[in-house]
Amino acid sequence: MILDGKALAATLRTETAQETAQFIQKTGVTPCLAAILVGDDPASQVYVRNKEIACQKAGIKSVLHKLPAETTQEELEALIDKLNADPEISGILCQLPLPKGLNETAILDRISPDKDVDAFHPENVGRILQGRPRFLPCTPAGIMELIRRNNIETKGKNAVVLGRSDIVGKPMAALLMQKGVDATVTVCHSRTSSLADVTRAAEILIVAIGKPKFVTADMVGDGAVVIDVGINRTESGLVGDVDFDAVKDKASAITPVPGGVGPLTIAMLLQNTLTAAKQQFASRN
Ligand SMILES: NC(=O)c1ccc[n+]([C@@H]2O[C@H](COP(=O)([O-])OP(=O)(O)OC[C@H]3O[C@@H](n4cnc5c(N)ncnc54)[C@H](OP(=O)(O)O)[C@@H]3O)[C@@H](O)[C@H]2O)c1
Repeated sequence: MILDGKALAATLRTETAQETAQFIQKTGVTPCLAAILVGDDPASQVYVRNKEIACQKAGIKSVLHKLPAETTQEELEALIDKLNADPEISGILCQLPLPKGLNETAILDRISPDKDVDAFHPENVGRILQGRPRFLPCTPAGIMELIRRNNIETKGKNAVVLGRSDIVGKPMAALLMQKGVDATVTVCHSRTSSLADVTRAAEILIVAIGKPKFVTADMVGDGAVVIDVGINRTESGLVGDVDFDAVKDKASAITPVPGGVGPLTIAMLLQNTLTAAKQQFASRN
């Protein structure tokens, strides 16, 4: 089975658009995402543009703050403070990577946890781990939707997460181990020994390492569910971290790249922005 992330993302976005319309009708409040883009990295510009278009389609307002690469830490922090205090702004997103010289951790920590729709703030990461999230981490939450809506069983399954980044690997492992999801989780990284033995034992294998076609057929067990988070630009186009053509005959289900996990991330960002607006409205009323 090919796990179609593009189709699911369209469904999720339609659902969010409907919920947003209901929320606006009930409260008179339009959810609004503030995006901050520092410098002129072309890939970041495309990502931010796509997020703005997705907001528009869902009936969510978006405001872009485009700052020059020479922006200082103090200037960026002052903008974040202003957005934190602005009642019109539901969510704040600071596009990464930031130009050299800016302290990324300090900037992400500065965003109010109530408006942290990427769920990167340590308070939100802690809440995710404890199973009482304010917002769900976008890429891992998109993967959980893909798993659930394709009726893939997780309870008692051996799930292996390849990669331990703060954005994907760690929060993915946190979601899979929660009560109700109930997977038995192993996290692998660049120091893992006998990696292929570990990945071959996975009933659910989630790969986020940023190495084109790294996972080959001999690293995958028969009938495994394989989720490829990787987005790698190569001479032959966009490829994932999994050698799709070789692995697809062994896997019971697999995500393609593109059209797998990628489109789900933005869909979950929209959902988080609506959630932020709902939470802020409830706390004010
Ligand atoms: N679909 C989406 O929306 C989405 C979202 C985010 C990221 N991505 C893509 O997902 C990929 C991973 O992104 P990321 O931000 O999680 O990456 P990252 O921060 O670079 O982390 C990569 C992880 O992979 C591990 N790793 C690297 N080489 C390895 C090897 N040979 N064997 C075992 N582990 C290895 C690293 O181990 P160490 O910790 O030991 O160094 C690290 O934990 C990238 O292609 C990125 O573009 C896609």
